Amino acid sequence: MITSIELRKKYLEFFKSKGHTIIPSASLIPENDPTVLFTTAGMHPLVPYLLGEKHPSGTKLVNVQKCIRTQDIDEVGDTRHDTFFEMMGNWSLGDYFKKEAITWSWEFLTSPDWLGLDPKKLAVSVFEGDADAPFDQESYDTWISLGMPADKIAKLPKKNNWWGPAGQTGPCGSDTEMFFWKGNSEFPPAGSNPGTDEDNWLEIWNDVFMEYEKTKEGNFIPLKQKNVDTGMGLERTLVTLNDYVDVFEIDTFWPLIQKIEEISGYEYIENTEITRSMRIVADHIRTATMIMSDDRGIVPSNVDQGYIVRRLLRRAIRHGRLLGVKENFCRMVSEKVIEIFKDIYPEVEKNKDFVFGEIEKEETKFRNTLEKGIKQFDIFVEESRDRKLSGDEMFDLFQSYGFPLEISLELAKERSIELDPEAVAVFNNLMKKHQDISRAGAEQKFKGGLADNSEISTKYHTATHLLLAALRHVLGGEIVQKGSNITAERLRFDFNYPEKLTPEQIKAVEDLVNQKIAEKIPVEMLEMPKEEAKKIVTVLSFDLSKYGDFVKVYKIGSFSTEFCGGPHVKNTELLGHFKIIKEEASSAWVRRIKAVLE
Ligand code: ALA
Repeated sequence: MITSIELRKKYLEFFKSKGHTIIPSASLIPENDPTVLFTTAGMHPLVPYLLGEKHPSGTKLVNVQKCIRTQDIDEVGDTRHDTFFEMMGNWSLGDYFKKEAITWSWEFLTSPDWLGLDPKKLAVSVFEGDADAPFDQESYDTWISLGMPADKIAKLPKKNNWWGPAGQTGPCGSDTEMFFWKGNSEFPPAGSNPGTDEDNWLEIWNDVFMEYEKTKEGNFIPLKQKNVDTGMGLERTLVTLNDYVDVFEIDTFWPLIQKIEEISGYEYIENTEITRSMRIVADHIRTATMIMSDDRGIVPSNVDQGYIVRRLLRRAIRHGRLLGVKENFCRMVSEKVIEIFKDIYPEVEKNKDFVFGEIEKEETKFRNTLEKGIKQFDIFVEESRDRKLSGDEMFDLFQSYGFPLEISLELAKERSIELDPEAVAVFNNLMKKHQDISRAGAEQKFKGGLADNSEISTKYHTATHLLLAALRHVLGGEIVQKGSNITAERLRFDFNYPEKLTPEQIKAVEDLVNQKIAEKIPVEMLEMPKEEAKKIVTVLSFDLSKYGDFVKVYKIGSFSTEFCGGPHVKNTELLGHFKIIKEEASSAWVRRIKAVLE
């Protein structure tokens, strides 16, 4: 048996031995990209570097990245779907390319010193070529040279062998994918490969060769540099190596299942409804815990990431009820999640009390309405005998009893109630309006006519540095950053201060930021050893152990010098006018400012 700890370690050590620098996982919440809610792949936080920006840790990197994909949330409950996963990946940022990447992948998979998989049980796919890019001859030839039989190499179209961030513009390219045999026979028959026999091959690794950028118009233009982005799912690889059929058997899930067995008194045996509920509880509390324990302080809410957390927790709570659990239990499962990950991702341990507090609050709140909501649902069902459940009714259940869509859908399925064909679309529309109102109520809408979200985010990022420096001038040198979040509409900034700011203080901070904008100060990026950087930065708000030995520092004249990954605008004059729209308490001793650029 191989454990998750051993597998992560092997992967990192292997690529370290090939000259890669180990970098830590980035946050699950994308820092400067309001267009997506979560980091969905290891490459996501590295996009600026794939596009040509210099990475402080060099051109060969390796890490294990925390990721979330929720599009298959309804499938969770079977033997293989999950919503939080860890992706092991190695990167070349304009350094090595196809031949080295494939050769190393093969060595890691098959060498008895590393994973030791039987080469006879492996097959691969390569890009067959189309009008945008040619057949990937180099990958094909490399596989042949490593001894892969030609009938185990599937040549497939873009749908299979092309990768870029989902449907978006940005870096992308053809890929070669590696598959493990999971058919009934010990070895795959001749001619069987992922193209001819898709269902019997499990993809375990993807080497993407990012050499294009997809433009808004849908064209593929060559990138400045040729990159490699690879992704090997930790969970799936553990299932393969340990010969499991059920992902919940791996050691980053199994202790959660055991805890749920203990709490509910049920045994996890076969693929019954009980097993399904146990898997949903384990998966959803694991994911909610990982989102909330991230350093960005996400709490359950009705918008954005907070809404995903709420949906996950509420669905877990309902399935706990199906398992007969009458008292709050989510925290006990969450404690196990923290135990599993605390040595891998230090923020998880650091933020655990915050997580437990929020989970308790959410569970208590939802339990108060769950029973009543189910009763109301059954009234709708009674009334719906001769017709179908509508989107309006499901939205009603959300507003009055806090039922996220998937709870109503599941209840309908359990009671064999049909849905109006428009029900989901109607619910989603009403929900969207509701969320827009929530957002608009809390924040002033951004009114600028800027080109796109990333440009707006970059401005807010620089404005955040000016704000911190201004706060330190006005309130004192003890002020440090306690949290930061940027959307296309505003910046949000948390800092340590014991009391409400006076109108005079707020005005002084605003004026100072605007003065620095008017001074048209160039923003400089410096790269230097961490120890040197520590001496020159004005303020140390971060845990530097997470950064590599070489760090980036952004300097705005003599006003601000901070550790930061960027990106930033070139000159403060690009920011426009800075305005604080809200100042409030965030928690004890922590104040929160929301501000806009007009
Ligand atoms: N970015 C690639 C993936 O997610 C490696 O599959």
